[in-house]
Amino acid sequence: MIDVPLLRSDTPGVRKVAHFNNAGAALMPTPVIDAVEDYRQEEILYGGYETHRKRGNQIAAVYSSIADLIGSERSEVALADNATRAWDMLFYSLGLTEGSRIITTTSEYVSNWAAYLQVRDRLGVVVDVAPDTSSGEIDVEALEAMVTEADTALITMNHMPTNGGLVNPAADVGDVASRHGVRYLLDACQTIGQMPIDVNEIKCDMLTATSRKYLRGPRGVGFLYITDELAESLDPVFVETESAPVVLPDRFDLAAGAHRFETWEKAYDNVVGLGAAIDYATDIGIEAIWDRIRVMSTSMRNVLEEIEGVTVHDLGSVKGGIVSFTIEGRQTLEIRELLSEQRINVSTSTAFSAPVDMHARDLEGVVRASVHAYNSDEEVDRFIDAIRVMA
Ligand SMILES: Cc1ncc(COP(=O)(O)O)c(C=O)c1O
Repeated sequence: MIDVPLLRSDTPGVRKVAHFNNAGAALMPTPVIDAVEDYRQEEILYGGYETHRKRGNQIAAVYSSIADLIGSERSEVALADNATRAWDMLFYSLGLTEGSRIITTTSEYVSNWAAYLQVRDRLGVVVDVAPDTSSGEIDVEALEAMVTEADTALITMNHMPTNGGLVNPAADVGDVASRHGVRYLLDACQTIGQMPIDVNEIKCDMLTATSRKYLRGPRGVGFLYITDELAESLDPVFVETESAPVVLPDRFDLAAGAHRFETWEKAYDNVVGLGAAIDYATDIGIEAIWDRIRVMSTSMRNVLEEIEGVTVHDLGSVKGGIVSFTIEGRQTLEIRELLSEQRINVSTSTAFSAPVDMHARDLEGVVRASVHAYNSDEEVDRFIDAIRVMA
């Protein structure tokens, strides 16, 4: 059971706002804030490189925290500036060429989708989209038929999209990928910190994630996972001193494992903040966080569905913390602003946030209220009252 009052007393932001924008960037808890601020202070007073050297063990421990969180080896983890760059480093290093076929899902995130369009136009990569089941998640049987039918270089999809609570069946997709020997890249940007994730259970070869959303870490840092075996076989799209140490004037050696996808320079205050966020979440228990998020978001959805004029748009037979909805006769940005005036934070997704899905459902936009374990029942009630008035 989650001790909600304790989580809230750890979160200074809850005294200012009811924050339902955890799918954007969550409110950081005090241990994360302290970790970032202490590190930053030391840099200010003693120097960035000097602090980096002194805090070497703390920085190394962040890789172990990530590895423990996702059930990987430490060597299989690399840090990045954000989830998109982590994802790009992997995607663009896969050596896709003309005729390589990738399969994705309808709910794909806009930046990933832009990359598919780019490799389609630049290289002649074939981009196929697997259909959904009637409840909206990727249809795993149809995916398997597609993989059986023609050579597939990559299955690449999100675990939870940006625009709704849908949870894609990542482990069932992993079964298909591993049975057919197809590489599998999972975008876990919205699910990391929200639900338990074990890369061995999911059987993904690669995974990417961010610090600032459900993990409640700082902005400006993300990470990737790649199996040691796959990493060793890939030539990174970019190299620099961390990923490819130059050992002779005319030679560089690629770093072992995931480090070949990393850069040396980082916002180390954010890196230690990410480590603190993971340790904080695992101390609470990710399973307990996931239970509370599901209970809260289910009840929010149920109540919203009862309000005349409100339509809830979440798909999926399993749903998580993102609640997406519209109100008849109201623009999504207007709803966000009206809530903001009442110190309630939500965000919006546009038709281009998840372009294939939003266009298929003819949605111009949705309001996105994303719930976390530290949100209180009173905050949900306040939010619902405000929506009732608007509707
Ligand atoms: C599903 C999904 N994937 C990827 C990203 C990109 O993450 P970042 O902004 O850290 O690059 C987001 C961001 O909202 C997202 O929702």
